[in-house]
Amino acid sequence: MSRVAVTGRIPRDAVDLLQAEHDVWAWEEDDPIPRDRLLAEVRGADALVTLLTERVDDELLDAAGPQLRIVANVAVGFNNIDIPACAARGVVATNTPGVLTDATADIAMALVLMATRRLGEGERIIRSGEPWQWGMFHLLGAAIQGRLLGIVGMGQIGTALGRRARAFGMTVVYSNRREADPAVAAELDAERLDLDDLLATSDVVSLHCPYSPATHHLIGAPQFEKMKPTAFLVNTARGPVVDEAALVDALQAGQLAGAGLDVFENEPEVHPGLLGMENVVLIPHLGSATVETRTAMAVLAARNAAAVLRGDSPLTPIAG
Ligand code: DGY
Repeated sequence: MSRVAVTGRIPRDAVDLLQAEHDVWAWEEDDPIPRDRLLAEVRGADALVTLLTERVDDELLDAAGPQLRIVANVAVGFNNIDIPACAARGVVATNTPGVLTDATADIAMALVLMATRRLGEGERIIRSGEPWQWGMFHLLGAAIQGRLLGIVGMGQIGTALGRRARAFGMTVVYSNRREADPAVAAELDAERLDLDDLLATSDVVSLHCPYSPATHHLIGAPQFEKMKPTAFLVNTARGPVVDEAALVDALQAGQLAGAGLDVFENEPEVHPGLLGMENVVLIPHLGSATVETRTAMAVLAARNAAAVLRGDSPLTPIAG
């Protein structure tokens, strides 16, 4: 029987799947496990099932020990994992692509609508108890029909957002290291642009690239200067893809019209400059937060761990 350490609270179905064959220890609190406790609990584990709140680095891998075979992250993003450090130890690393595509694209589309239609502002007015009534010019937003959505990172989630945006009458362009699948590009009638052209022409820019050193502050002061003053930025990828201080400056300077943010540079902290801005929608990293999706993510991670422990190939390995 192998030892599996589940380092954050995950849906029961996934823990049950692991417990059927293995000796499982699981952190049961909603708050992230303190680092010193984590380092102690992973000792002797053959598999780690981790959340994005845990940093998987040399220190943690060494604490687990040389018998460790897999780190199964319950997230599609894996910037919390030092992939070369895993590879150097022969530890397989996996993520959960596919199962959170629709949930995350839904949240990106929701942020597009919330930001352009000023829904956060409207909600705040009602909750404040301030008097209000229908008014011809009250809280007028920007229509998205016929407007251009620029998708940065045309993977599964970017593509799924493109489908939603097309259904809402938007035109889609994208920037990506590679051309999109020709069938997808044809379906969405989406042209590939370089990032500068996308920023200069889009009415809404939505970020869907993975976070890595190459995408750190991909969107910062020089990029905001290129955007239209009527444009909106949506981020459901990872916070540090955007230079948050530069975003605050750009919003204050009117270089863009607003933003919808699900992720933050120093999560869970939010730049104080954003908190008072009416034209910014702020939600707490909810991209994959449905019961169904979180269950599917955890079960996929558990199946990855179980596969590797029985000597099979992982279902969704992270390319090293
Ligand atoms: C992911 O899977 O990377 C998401 O950010 C988690 O919600």
